[in-house]
Amino acid sequence: MKHIADDLTKIVESIQSAGGMNISEDYVMNELRKIQSKVIDTTPKRFRSHLNDPIPDSTLDYLDNGQSILITGAVGSGKTTTAFAIGYQWTMRRAKKFYIDENAGANRHLSIPSIIIHFTTATEYLFDIRNSFNDGGAESVRGKLKNTRLLILDDLFASKATDHVHEEIIHLINERYQWERPSILTSNKSIEEIADVDDRIASRLSEGLVLNFKSKPDFRIRKD
Ligand SMILES: Nc1ncnc2c1ncn2[C@@H]1O[C@H](COP(=O)(O)OP(=O)(O)OP(=O)(O)O)[C@@H](O)[C@H]1O
Ligand SMILES: [Mg+2]
Repeated sequence: MKHIADDLTKIVESIQSAGGMNISEDYVMNELRKIQSKVIDTTPKRFRSHLNDPIPDSTLDYLDNGQSILITGAVGSGKTTTAFAIGYQWTMRRAKKFYIDENAGANRHLSIPSIIIHFTTATEYLFDIRNSFNDGGAESVRGKLKNTRLLILDDLFASKATDHVHEEIIHLINERYQWERPSILTSNKSIEEIADVDDRIASRLSEGLVLNFKSKPDFRIRKD
């Protein structure tokens, strides 16, 4: 954890060198630590040791612009791990920017940056929608994913899907795109294979960043 403390010290130093902000070091450190531990707590344990794996700033920039990041690649190539690392680092970058650049005003406590990352698999999402039809809650399931600040939608097209399922996914992606809410998606299918399944989804996702882990080894097998 040492490098995290170092990191926070640097933030405070940059706030001080920017000058004029009347907030205490302790306050900023505390707020950032709170955000950090919230994100770490909501990350499944097996992905936590990779949260600080290097992610280029240019990758995070896509999310700032409300665009999506699609991570494709074979089983065990590290897609979900990387999705969590990107989500964590983007959230921390936003939080740091917030304290340093954006909200020097007095109402900081009223507008702490939204740190919500929602993680689900595509299968689980569709299952939740199907199940909620009984109690009329499909809209609330959809609404949650539409509105969350950052969505990680894992294992897109892991199983064969009907047109209805494609409609749900394209609707979700479109809604988030329209409101400039970024998403990180993973799939074992390449963008070309996704295009074969549904070219509208492939076309939308191609506008964002597409990372291909094809050449990475299966980390699960390598470890054993
Ligand atoms: N850069 C890395 N170095 C070493 N191990 C890694 C790395 N990235 C991921 N791993 C490990 O490899 C395993 C598989 O990673 P992960 O679950 O992210 O793969 P995946 O591509 O999402 O697989 P799947 O297609 O089955 O969902 C995990 O145990 C993870 O901790
Ligand atoms: Mg995965």
